[in-house]
Amino acid sequence: MNHEARTPPTMQQLDRPNESPTEALLPGFGMLNGQSILVTGGSGSFGKRFVETVLRHASPRRVIVFSRDEFKQYEMQQLLGPEWASTLRFFIGDVRDRERLELAMREVDVCVHAAALKHVPAAEYNPMECIHTNVYGAENVVRAALNTGVKRVIALSTDKAANPVNLYGASKLASDKIFIAANNLSGSLGTRFSVVRYGNVVGSRGSVIPLFRRMIVEGAESLPVTDDRMTRFWITLQHGVDFVVSCIAMMQGGEIFVPKIPSMRIADLARAMAPDLPHKLVGIRPGEKLHEVMITEDDSRQTFELPDRFVIEPAFAFWTHEPYQRLGAKPVPDGFRYASDTNGDWLDGARLMRLLAEAP
Ligand SMILES: NC(=O)c1ccc[n+]([C@@H]2O[C@H](COP(=O)([O-])OP(=O)(O)OC[C@H]3O[C@@H](n4cnc5c(N)ncnc54)[C@H](OP(=O)(O)O)[C@@H]3O)[C@@H](O)[C@H]2O)c1
Repeated sequence: MNHEARTPPTMQQLDRPNESPTEALLPGFGMLNGQSILVTGGSGSFGKRFVETVLRHASPRRVIVFSRDEFKQYEMQQLLGPEWASTLRFFIGDVRDRERLELAMREVDVCVHAAALKHVPAAEYNPMECIHTNVYGAENVVRAALNTGVKRVIALSTDKAANPVNLYGASKLASDKIFIAANNLSGSLGTRFSVVRYGNVVGSRGSVIPLFRRMIVEGAESLPVTDDRMTRFWITLQHGVDFVVSCIAMMQGGEIFVPKIPSMRIADLARAMAPDLPHKLVGIRPGEKLHEVMITEDDSRQTFELPDRFVIEPAFAFWTHEPYQRLGAKPVPDGFRYASDTNGDWLDGARLMRLLAEAP
């Protein structure tokens, strides 16, 4: 199947109830044909959907899942079945172990770095564990990719990394900086490193949606809402996967890619999921923001806009804006800020329900 000629879908297209998200693929899958791809954190929520999508919609030479827990890998193997056995490899390893990463990355063309510790309170309580995985792990991925000649590395980041207020966000910001600066080590013809930054994944493990779902099923009398004003950016797992694939295809090395995605108030989310349940205000917890931001005013001076995304360009002396100019990228206005409270695109209840139907 040739996906290269397709037009990138907007969030609205992904919302169309009758259109399977994988039928609305972003460009980029074609460039994965014949490639050897390694996914750190390949057995996590993102990794599983990424691997399955790539196997179904491209013809990679090899797909390597790199993660620690053998049971998660076993379950994934069972779920995917024998159909992909000749292409799929399951590699037990820890991103804290550079030698293991180097072994796994031999003859790899594309690396997607999704492994992370991402639970905000766990990172506050165990700061060095978070730093070892999210920061030193990032450094190890960079060094292993440089030493083994991987062509493209894309690292997953989060809105919590922009002006971070908790260690998880700060560790992801440090990781982003490590990946972007890595382009200085590889030269213009060497490994390219870029970052994808997005917001809350609808239904992801440990997030508010599974919590509300569980409470509703268990017959709760109210839903806990931190603050009536609190807003978040929302993206579906499939949109995240398709977006990452399109970024792999377009990356020059050094960009932070930010998809245009909708916002919703947590209170409206609770109301859409359980219209009859009252809300119990529980207050914003330490390390939480009232609103998330994906592009700060300071980053906006380096930011260009395409129809479906923003691109924060790096400040390298050797960076050339020309490929994006050809795509029609326009600079964002002076003082621009992409934040979940001032976003122009809002989810209503009906649209949220369609996204929930697709959630894992
Ligand atoms: N979910 C969201 O809402 C969201 C939003 C924005 C950005 N992101 C980013 O997206 C990425 C993927 O998130 P996710 O939702 O897929 O997370 P997830 O479901 O928790 O999966 C994390 C994966 O990383 C692996 N992992 C953890 N520590 C590791 C280590 N030291 N070495 C190797 N593998 C390790 C885990 O497997 P093992 O435990 O078996 O090692 C698992 O496969 C993360 O970088 C996250 O920061 C997520």
